[in-house]
Amino acid sequence: MLYRNEKFTSLWENKSKPYPQINIIDQTLLPFVFSIIKLDSSDKAIESIKNMNLRGAPLIGVAGAYAVYFAVLESKSHKDERILREKIKEISEARPTAVNLEWAVNKTFDYSQTFSGIDAQINAALECSRAIRQDEINNSLNIGLNGVEFIEDIYSRTCKPVNILTHCNAGWLATIDYGTALAPIYVAQERNIPVRLWIDETRPRNQGSKLTAWEAYHQKLDYKLISDNAGGQLMRDGKIDMVIVGADRIASNGDVANKVGTYLKALAAKDNDIPFYVAAPKSTFDFNIESGNDIIIETRSDSEIFYIDAFINGEYSKVPIALENSPTENIGFDVTPSRLVSNIITEYGNIYPNAQDITKLLK
Ligand code: MRU
Repeated sequence: MLYRNEKFTSLWENKSKPYPQINIIDQTLLPFVFSIIKLDSSDKAIESIKNMNLRGAPLIGVAGAYAVYFAVLESKSHKDERILREKIKEISEARPTAVNLEWAVNKTFDYSQTFSGIDAQINAALECSRAIRQDEINNSLNIGLNGVEFIEDIYSRTCKPVNILTHCNAGWLATIDYGTALAPIYVAQERNIPVRLWIDETRPRNQGSKLTAWEAYHQKLDYKLISDNAGGQLMRDGKIDMVIVGADRIASNGDVANKVGTYLKALAAKDNDIPFYVAAPKSTFDFNIESGNDIIIETRSDSEIFYIDAFINGEYSKVPIALENSPTENIGFDVTPSRLVSNIITEYGNIYPNAQDITKLLK
């Protein structure tokens, strides 16, 4: 079964009357259980973002926009502007690293507030959320169309399957459709260009083994799942032609925050003369910060280090893999300096990661 289709995008509206609600795929239960969660309040949306039932920068942004719509809708009953503004702040801060969240929340709330009367504000917030969702779909496709050029280029020279390494999940589950890092791969597949995807398992939350491999399996991609530390040697062995990753926040100078472990892959790629591409929409750029040093990195719970999720006898359970009293440091993201990035693939085109090119194309 192909999951990436009209019905199963990673977030879609249901037809509840008079106000639509949204459905998401519960990503914490993949790859063994496919389950849908209905979100019908700002609190449920915030909880889903925090728990990572949904994750990935563009998807978090879309969910944040709908959370604003729910918050404006809820203000129809409590009629308290202070409560509404506090809720908007809470949504914005549900996760810190992905700038898409703050961007989509501000855009939706500000737009709704240009209308007077609560019904008009609710409709405006809903329309804005829908537009952001549709834009992310269009952006992903355009990222795919721009990024496939790099794959085609290698294929036209080698006439062999193009080997691509990716980290974390930046496929359609992390966006709405296509993805960011995986979009060029899906477009290559549509064009019958042979590609083999090497997927880092991505500890501690295993987005690679749980989500990217699930996508790859259902999309019938040629793929191999590898442990997080294998990429460097595979590059030395000449098994990788390029790396493509997503991003959670990109500074004005092209420094990139992405899932922890990305930086080490970029270093290994540089040492082996392998191109390292970052695929991201404009909504992932933070023009308010100059460099990666200004990016706030999310620290996550110790339990992600102490336990893994195991699926035993049809149920998920947390299995301990370290002594619980071990001191830990669980940073969720790292920053790859722009000098290690070959190009950034955006919906507007492929750009060099420097302030001049970023400003010229995007700002
Ligand atoms: O913590 P997550 O899973 O929300 O992390 C975000 C990501 O999915 C990755 O960093 C990804 O590579 C960029 S988002 C398309």
